[in-house]
Amino acid sequence: MNTSEYSRELAVRTMKGHRIILNDFLNLIKRENITSILDAGSGRTSLSVITSLFSDVPVDAVVYPGDLRKINSIKEITDHNQNISVIEKDICGDTIIGEYDIIIAHLLLGEAAKFGNTFEDLLEKIIAMKYKYLIIIDYLEDPAVKESGIIKMCEKNNLAVVYRSYFTNQEPQVWENFTGTHNFGYLIKRL
Ligand SMILES: C[S@@+](CC[C@H](N)C(=O)[O-])C[C@H]1O[C@@H](n2cnc3c(N)ncnc32)[C@H](O)[C@@H]1O
Repeated sequence: MNTSEYSRELAVRTMKGHRIILNDFLNLIKRENITSILDAGSGRTSLSVITSLFSDVPVDAVVYPGDLRKINSIKEITDHNQNISVIEKDICGDTIIGEYDIIIAHLLLGEAAKFGNTFEDLLEKIIAMKYKYLIIIDYLEDPAVKESGIIKMCEKNNLAVVYRSYFTNQEPQVWENFTGTHNFGYLIKRL
């Protein structure tokens, strides 16, 4: 293996699949058509990928009210970027009024129960929002997330799944109640 093959191999081994899928999906969307983005369930990974690819686009970063874990972790990004608005809202309780070109639910759905909501209710609220593109990324192993529920909701709401992506992490990530080896992602378009 030469040096460049080795560094590529190392990057694939250490980068997390959910980050790679988000990066790939955002690169598939034509930049000139994008003027607004909602990071629904914000955090350092999703916000850093979004701002690196869409540096001039206004981003609403929604976190559950009082979720200091996430508010503090994105501070180093939000403090230096006037395009980002941090919004503390319960997506299941408060209506998100805006219209967005892209809505990103990156590792959001698995946390529904953490804040007293159900996976089905949170998914329904996300699907019902106004967007051109919706990106959903989660772990296949997360017992709180039902991939089949996402497919059914897309069919029911006449949404097109433009891309479906799966990634096997060489270094599984250990969460509170599961070990995440595989990520999956859906790039969805409103018809
Ligand atoms: C695992 S973190 C997401 C990770 C984040 N996308 C990243 O890249 O680090 C889950 C996020 O969803 C948010 N969240 C969970 N349930 C929510 C709800 N009902 N309304 C709004 N935000 C919610 C949490 O506050 C947190 O920001």
